Amino acid sequence: MAIAQPATRPANPRFSSGPCAKPPAYDLSKLADAPLGRSHRAGVGKAKLLAAIEGTREILGIPADYRIGIVPGSDTGAVEMAMWSLLGPRKVEMLAWESFGAGWVTDVVKQLKLDAVVKTAEYGEIVDLASVDTNNDVVFTWNGTTSGVRVPNGDWIAADREGLTICDATSAAFAMDLPWDKLDVTTFSWQKVLGGEGAHGMIVLSPRAVERLESYVPAWPMPKIFRMTKGGKLIDGIFKGETINTPSMLAVEDYLFALDWSRTVGGLEGLIARADANAGAIHAFVYANDWIENLAVDEATRSNTSVCLKFTDKRIADGASFAKAVAKRLEAEGIALDIGAYRDAPAGLRIWCGGTVETSDIEAMLPWLAWAFEAEIAAQG
Ligand SMILES: Cc1ncc(COP(=O)(O)O)c(C=O)c1O
Repeated sequence: MAIAQPATRPANPRFSSGPCAKPPAYDLSKLADAPLGRSHRAGVGKAKLLAAIEGTREILGIPADYRIGIVPGSDTGAVEMAMWSLLGPRKVEMLAWESFGAGWVTDVVKQLKLDAVVKTAEYGEIVDLASVDTNNDVVFTWNGTTSGVRVPNGDWIAADREGLTICDATSAAFAMDLPWDKLDVTTFSWQKVLGGEGAHGMIVLSPRAVERLESYVPAWPMPKIFRMTKGGKLIDGIFKGETINTPSMLAVEDYLFALDWSRTVGGLEGLIARADANAGAIHAFVYANDWIENLAVDEATRSNTSVCLKFTDKRIADGASFAKAVAKRLEAEGIALDIGAYRDAPAGLRIWCGGTVETSDIEAMLPWLAWAFEAEIAAQG
């Protein structure tokens, strides 16, 4: 039976998993200080880039001896420059439980042609982390954005490992606690948790990752855009804001604004609490309704950013078209934008819960989800 439309609407219907919602205080006028039309290598540009690097260190609690660089190609660029630069000298384990992790497997097996140990799990599941040997180089995704499954912690990574861990943390950084001592390379893009712009990625290197970079030369050609060393030495400037190629200073200003905003909500702790509250509101809704479930099977692996849901009602005739119709109905009503499951993921919804999303908007949206569900059940006839 169709139900009446709820009375309250979310003030902001943006629940996309990337680019994600801008911080609540956002306004284009806040970017007025961007040094546009100037060289990014001028003093003012370099100062902004350095502030973006050091602000990242401060908010994320990255150790002083780790290097942080702003790189081209968003998170993809950062992950690929890491894999192209570092992999080869040791055995490699590739872990994947959704499409982005699977993409890194393709890179390593088909492009770099390395004889890697590949461990995969279905959407909703995670690989057996206890079986991972971190004396190998290990590539994994902290939070699988398209399945809503994250690693519960870094306990499975040995403190005295010989291998390097390369972690795609793009939908985890600024929303989850990342154990820096367990991560040798960490990457993310600005367009995710802080609601920044596309195009730029960040790479965080542990001292052991730098040691590998300075002591190992890959057998394959290295495009300039991936090169982090020159003559066997780290190119220091990259990690002080002298980017490899030209960045967008408008995107830099936008990221600086997001960092400033995150300070106003209590930094990392505040950001994590906001994401937890958002995801918690959805979990409570799922618990209260027997027609919807979390795609992540094990509660300990449930994401607090990209929450993925599936419809489980027996009356649903075609799962894929049903989920699409619910998402379309919510979009048409201006209630929730971009919440359809990722194209390669199982049918369902994916609702972004990172800290730039207000819990009041999630709470206002959920009764509408129930409304859209009932409306689509009724529409099936
Ligand atoms: C886990 C993960 N890795 C990589 C990417 C690619 O990010 P980008 O488009 O910033 O390169 C995404 C984008 O959603 C992602 O979720």
